[in-house]
Amino acid sequence: MGWQRRHILGLRDFTPEEYELVLKTTHTFQGVLARQNWKVPTLSGKIVVNLFFESSTRTRSSFELAAKGLSADVLNFDPGTSSLTKGETILDTARTYCAMGVAILIVRHREPGVPHLIAQDVDRRGVRVFNAGDGQHEHPTQGLLDLYTLCHALNPDAPHPSLLEGKKVVIVGDILHSRVARSNLWALQRCGAQVHLAGPATLVPKGFTELGATVHHRLDTALSGAHFVMALRIQQERIDQQLIPSLREYHRLFGLNHERLRLCAPSVKFLHPGPTNRDVEVTSELMDDPDFSLIDRQVTTGLALRMALLYLLGGGKP
Ligand code: CP
Repeated sequence: MGWQRRHILGLRDFTPEEYELVLKTTHTFQGVLARQNWKVPTLSGKIVVNLFFESSTRTRSSFELAAKGLSADVLNFDPGTSSLTKGETILDTARTYCAMGVAILIVRHREPGVPHLIAQDVDRRGVRVFNAGDGQHEHPTQGLLDLYTLCHALNPDAPHPSLLEGKKVVIVGDILHSRVARSNLWALQRCGAQVHLAGPATLVPKGFTELGATVHHRLDTALSGAHFVMALRIQQERIDQQLIPSLREYHRLFGLNHERLRLCAPSVKFLHPGPTNRDVEVTSELMDDPDFSLIDRQVTTGLALRMALLYLLGGGKP
């Protein structure tokens, strides 16, 4: 199968063939990253701009490293020192980079739909756009790196999406405000996993059942027999009402710890996309326990996955 997609804006309409190709290409780049010289020339002479209007550590840095690994020239836009502060619009900012000859824009914004708007505007110029997280909507590259991480945990030599068929994956936390939850939900369900969402009713509305997930308001019932558990951050910056009594109470009812993981399948692993509120979503002991935690692997995979996607969008051969 050849790669057809011009922009990566969300996973809702990703096909099984696309997931397979992305995982296969990511696996190849894991091999490239293990080499002493991990630079490849695919994007040589091309400009990639990290257009982040919202803060980030993992996504921005790994896109920068990935683009540099493919020999691109990388610019990191800083909204605080940009002409946005003088009233320039987001679209005029994107168009300014297009006029400089940019090939790929990586966009993060607190409002859903901004990467889509930019993609619509710059598409006719042949510029490619990645959604690096838009509000509560989607975070497709996080969903894809999580997918690879899960499949790699099941078979490190051949991480294929079909490995997730019938596996129980629990996502616990602030689902309501989470773009990671939505992207993971689309990806996991398309690959045949059973997705269970857990958290207080204020953060996990029953409406998520309409998207095919099973909703739980008690963590213990959700965790029973789970193969993977993904904790999500309590997004205090997006919560403008009193949706939980306190962080302490949240931790008591929904925080992950070693004891709670004993309810899961014996092989259970846990993930967190980060950033993490230690001892809120998960205890520090569990977070730092390499027997259970895939957090570091998620970050490492993020680099290979973003190299793979930049490679595919940049015209590299599947
Ligand atoms: N997981 C994630 O998107 O992290 P950052 O906000 O640090 O990019």
